[in-house]
Amino acid sequence: MTPETKTVATRSEEIVAKYKKYVWPAASNYYKQPLVADRASMQYVWDVEGKKYLDFFGGILTVSVGHTNPKVTGKIKAQVERLQHLSTLYPNEAIVNLAEKMAQIAPGRLEKTFFTNSGSEANEVAILTARMATGRYDVVGLRHAYSGGSTLTKSMTAVAPYRRAGIISVGVSHAINPYCYRCPLGKTYPDCGVACANDVESLIQTSTSGQIAAFIAEPIQGVGGFITPPPEYFKIVFQIVKKYGGLFISDEVQTGFGRTGKTWFGIERWEVTPDMITCAKGMANGTPVGATVATPEIADAFQGLTISTFGGNPVTSVAARATIEVIEEENLLENADVVGSYFRAKLDDLKQKHRLIGDVRGMGLMQGLELVKDRQTKEPAPEATNELLERARENGLLIGKGGLFGNVIRLAPMLNIAKADVDEAIRLLDKSFAEVRI
Ligand SMILES: Cc1ncc(COP(=O)(O)O)c(C=O)c1O
Repeated sequence: MTPETKTVATRSEEIVAKYKKYVWPAASNYYKQPLVADRASMQYVWDVEGKKYLDFFGGILTVSVGHTNPKVTGKIKAQVERLQHLSTLYPNEAIVNLAEKMAQIAPGRLEKTFFTNSGSEANEVAILTARMATGRYDVVGLRHAYSGGSTLTKSMTAVAPYRRAGIISVGVSHAINPYCYRCPLGKTYPDCGVACANDVESLIQTSTSGQIAAFIAEPIQGVGGFITPPPEYFKIVFQIVKKYGGLFISDEVQTGFGRTGKTWFGIERWEVTPDMITCAKGMANGTPVGATVATPEIADAFQGLTISTFGGNPVTSVAARATIEVIEEENLLENADVVGSYFRAKLDDLKQKHRLIGDVRGMGLMQGLELVKDRQTKEPAPEATNELLERARENGLLIGKGGLFGNVIRLAPMLNIAKADVDEAIRLLDKSFAEVRI
């Protein structure tokens, strides 16, 4: 080791030591030795040792059109120098430009947006507004859902480790989810007749007042492990939700803005037009943002006072609009579909080769691999999942994980990657799987 590299290595250790000393451990890191990021450009990230990584997780599905993409970052820089913040007490061009664009890309009559800073807030606003608009209180969500880190959204979340220390779901009930690989009803698709969808009706009849304010779900569950429903599921559930007078809220925090290919929002792939959409993460390519989009009647039903100090701030708004424009100009809805299908075929091939892979699922550039110790028993393999993450990091590939049992690999590269990036990721994944010894 040269004196120069020794100094850089020490810098990484120093940063990790300070992180451990000054940042709550609740904000945990990936890897036994956390990766200290230094800089990034498009699909690549460099750590402080100068090692380069191909990023197939995008800061948890957030960097959607490439790290520091000049088409977005350039506009952010210009806006920072022009007007950074004045709050929603004063309208500005940036917020209306974004809101107008949101109305154009959102399905149906979803024309009005409330801007916040995160997915948690976007979901809070959606639930609060649904209760005001319907005059009802009960909300139905799905098991394995992740809705956010605030008290209400934690109570809507249905993954035990995120509900510790007295999270109580008052007025929130959770239906079984369409988790075909581990069907909660022990059935097999398509012979099951999508029986899980009927649980939503049974739940409304038994665990609510029978009158619901809303049903909320992710079109593909993110933190839950990219759980992908059968195509009929949400259409059936939509009918049930309408029968009981509820609003259908699509949580697009992970699926939003083209992630699932072809359409802007994941729920459109299931041919359902929701009453409200919530988005965050990938919406502004890494700038903190949240948005709740609703029909004018629902938006206008909001009562009382509210404010989001940073909601729709000019810098964030410019970043989000620039992200949308990159997706439009570079035809990335199509790219996510085409490259996503290519990626999926290669992942299916990997499954043939590595017995650890029990299930491949997802849509577009949102693909998951559920890892199991045994394909018959489907016993989850969380240790091997961690080891795969370590091996992939060592081999220069960033991937994510999720799932109730911590055994699902989450793969969500930028929407503007090419097939060559997929080839490289598959090569690195293949190598990494071969190196897992657990
Ligand atoms: C589907 C979904 N909804 C809501 C949230 C909460 O978003 P945030 O962390 O920005 O508050 C997340 C975060 O992972 C999410 O995946």
